[in-house]
Amino acid sequence: MCGIVGYIGRQQACPILIDGLKRLEYRGYDSAGIAVLDGDGIDVRRSVGKLASLERMLENCPPTGCVGVGHTRWATHGRPSDENAHPHSDCNGGITVVHNGIIENYMELKNRLAAGGHVFTSETDTEVAAHLIESHYSGDLTEAVRLACRELDGSFALVVVARDEPDRIVAARRHSPLVIGLGDGEQFLGSDVAAFLKYTRRAIYTDDDSITVVTREGISMMDLDGNAVEKDVSNIDWDAGMAERGGYEHFMLKEIHEQPRALRETMRGRLSLENDRVELPGLNVTDDEIRNIDRIVMIACGTAYHASMAGKYAIEALCRIPVEIDFASELRYRNPIVDEHTLGIVISQSGETLDTVVGLREAKQKGAKIVAVTNVVGSMAARESDGVLYTYAGPEIAVASTKAYTTQLMALYLIALYFAQVRGTLDENCARRLRDALWELPGQAELILNDYSDLIDVAQHYYCYNGFLYMARGINLASALEGALKIKEISYMHAEGYAAGEMKHGPIAMIDPTFATVAVAVQSKTYDKMLGNIREVKARSGDVIAIANTHDQVINDYADRVLRVPETEELFSPVLVAVPLQLMAYFVAKGRGPAIDQPRNLAKTVTVE
Ligand code: F6R
Repeated sequence: MCGIVGYIGRQQACPILIDGLKRLEYRGYDSAGIAVLDGDGIDVRRSVGKLASLERMLENCPPTGCVGVGHTRWATHGRPSDENAHPHSDCNGGITVVHNGIIENYMELKNRLAAGGHVFTSETDTEVAAHLIESHYSGDLTEAVRLACRELDGSFALVVVARDEPDRIVAARRHSPLVIGLGDGEQFLGSDVAAFLKYTRRAIYTDDDSITVVTREGISMMDLDGNAVEKDVSNIDWDAGMAERGGYEHFMLKEIHEQPRALRETMRGRLSLENDRVELPGLNVTDDEIRNIDRIVMIACGTAYHASMAGKYAIEALCRIPVEIDFASELRYRNPIVDEHTLGIVISQSGETLDTVVGLREAKQKGAKIVAVTNVVGSMAARESDGVLYTYAGPEIAVASTKAYTTQLMALYLIALYFAQVRGTLDENCARRLRDALWELPGQAELILNDYSDLIDVAQHYYCYNGFLYMARGINLASALEGALKIKEISYMHAEGYAAGEMKHGPIAMIDPTFATVAVAVQSKTYDKMLGNIREVKARSGDVIAIANTHDQVINDYADRVLRVPETEELFSPVLVAVPLQLMAYFVAKGRGPAIDQPRNLAKTVTVE
């Protein structure tokens, strides 16, 4: 939540900051601002609304100077307004701060500082940090930031500049992401690497409770006690082009189309048909540990939680290990039953979702070994887990998750097959059949994406409806929930995902001719039951769109419209079913007109509880 950037070098900072903010706008877009050191002081420009309104404001007179910081906001403390937009400054404008996170003791600090004469001009928690640093400042910004951070509770990534020390940017973090990009005579800061990938792929992921001093020549780091800290440099293998729209109208559509490639990348080096094996280096769980696991707890939020629902089905079916899934935000408050025989699987695209990271810590502290399934190298989830299975989806920019979801499914299928291999729970013929089917998935997703003109017609028919009900059975219950979430997020329409067998216990009351039902009816153990459920909806004047297999003719007699996906193993079908559901959401939203990549009230990475 909130994106922060910084630049120190010899180029004009303003265009670099704006470019970085564009790439981080997915993290929040309630307001934006920059501060540039211009030789005399700090020139702060801020504007409520999306980055475009700040850009318009800067068009004719951009601030000049080669050192600066920037921010794009997702409001927590204080409504979106010019006053609450970052950067925030101390009493005399000598110290300026951008912040991502939540300072939990800000009220107490604010009262104390106000009693000491500090004057506040915003409702934010961030402004407190600026004044607190001012209260510790006596000519050494690094020391003032260090002392201030020792007083802060909560989460923060802070990037700070001072008028009297124009040769440095000082950054600090706890629980909120902050990465330094290393250049030649210039350095970059960002909430994630997308902010500076265009300039450098050499990055340092900062630690919790660390202070980083960034100058043109390089960086130095210390902990909050002032002890020097050394960090390795990571080479990022994403390139800047991956974070561009590449000719698509929206990132979301581009990312939907990237799924075949992303799925292949996630399988690469892990699934080998020649060796008849799944190999998961990096997972860091020994064969003995896998044999001794007596339960798995999956921790995730939102779309990643839906991936965990499908993962539960797959792991229980193939490995016979009981799997519990939980919303990360719930897990920590219910004293979960977790011990050293529990494996925690944390699923998070960003690896920074605060609820998920806190759930990870809770499970770890109770003795569980933790494996992260994440898309972001060096993210908090990756760093704090015992092992990592990266999903190689590439940067996901659209707020509504698509390729991250299907690659999470792929990663969980690989874990299921790998554990089954080690535990010997599958006969070899069955294991081979499943490996072959998994291998085919990217190509099958490609087939759906090669031609979906029918789907666009279907979406155009339904975008004026009052809402959607998604129903499915078995593993595709995850698909129903994910399909409903996608449409809610980007078209703001009412949508619900339901187990088809539950319809008669309540939701069927909602059916009328303006409330469409999307029924996932691919080949499965429960196909006939799904047909029955579709009949029940039709009998109540409901309108049904079925997601069915390519050669299924039976479905034509049941549904009003049919969207086709190739046939695969039931366990793997959520990957293929996801594609038309994502496209439906996209084209329905397009018909209705909201900002598809940046839906209202949302942000991509949720770093608040
Ligand atoms: C929905 C969506 C969110 C995220 C959730 C978790 O399209 O993107 O529901 O899935 O906020 O985010 P990560 O996976 O980054 O932990």
